Amino acid sequence: MSAEHLLSWWRMLLLLAAAALLPSGCSDSRGDPTVYRKHCTSCHGSQGQGLRALYPPLQGSAYLGERLAELPCLVSTGVRGTIVTGKKTKNIRMPAFSQLSLEEMSSLVNYLQLNWGTGGETVAERTVAQWLRSCP
Ligand code: HEC
Repeated sequence: MSAEHLLSWWRMLLLLAAAALLPSGCSDSRGDPTVYRKHCTSCHGSQGQGLRALYPPLQGSAYLGERLAELPCLVSTGVRGTIVTGKKTKNIRMPAFSQLSLEEMSSLVNYLQLNWGTGGETVAERTVAQWLRSCP
């Protein structure tokens, strides 16, 4: 390969690297919405706002704050009875999402955390795996 060729390769690589580093819309800094949009928006709303007395908002939920470690279990097993933190919610069922892979669950937890969480920190996949092992 000629020196000229090598140079243009380098330029392309640099351009690609620069493009990868640039923030592209919201999805980079605020996590990947794919899993949320697919499974949760229908009830909890695209902004996590919930739906009147039917579905609780996720914004301000304790599961995105001090009870974050319980979130993966809540999602994978669903909710049958009334949950303690649901403010106005009565006893409406939330389906179980046990089919989510560990990768999907982690991506979901981080998306929720980055958008409506109080901690603002992202969680490693192995931590989510650990939390899932201790489901009640
Ligand atoms: C079919 C509607 C429905 C879908 C879909 C759904 N949920 Fe829920 N969710 C509910 C209901 C109803 C409750 C409240 C249950 C109760 O209080 O008895 C709830 C409660 C919650 C809570 C606790 C909120 C609080 O009050 O602190 C979290 C967190 C949550 N859902 C996350 C999710 C996530 C993440 C998804 C997507 C994987 C999801 N939900 C999909 C209906 C749904």
